[in-house]
Amino acid sequence: MNRVTLLDIFHHPVAQKYVKRAGLAHAISCAYRAYRFAVEKNVDPDLACKAAFLHDVGHYTWYRNGEWDYDMYKENDIHAIKGAERAHKLLIRLGEDRVSAKQISLAVLLHTDSFLPDNNITREALQEVVALADEEDEEPGGMHHYRHITDARAEKLLSLLDQRIEAYHMKGQATASF
Ligand SMILES: [Fe+2]
Ligand SMILES: [Fe+2]
Repeated sequence: MNRVTLLDIFHHPVAQKYVKRAGLAHAISCAYRAYRFAVEKNVDPDLACKAAFLHDVGHYTWYRNGEWDYDMYKENDIHAIKGAERAHKLLIRLGEDRVSAKQISLAVLLHTDSFLPDNNITREALQEVVALADEEDEEPGGMHHYRHITDARAEKLLSLLDQRIEAYHMKGQATASF
């Protein structure tokens, strides 16, 4: 089965709408950071990069009178829950393997504890990689959601990351055959 690529995900209308709403530059930067953490921690970078790229796909914009309302967001936000479901649906539509789609979706769900009554999540390695990537890319005041990137640059960066992931898998297969 052909691998579903980051570029395939990027081109899907759901990602075009919702990844862009939450910040395309942040999503790509997180995917790159997730690649580095995944290799360090022996986690499949394909799953880590997809989950990191999609981690904020459930975001909703909390505006009151044209201004971002942080209190309203804190009180009502469920972007991790919504994102997990949205990411899963999108991946299945693209033909992602079902086991992988579930793992990616869970990593999206657990990238933050902001929706939970208490914050004592025990994360598995993939989930930890995605949470670390997000944390590392965050800027004060949520400014990481507003960084700009052109579609052309986004495509270039995602296709480069796809190549790195594929090279990593090829290397793994080569080692396994000895
Ligand atoms: Fe988030
Ligand atoms: Fe984020």
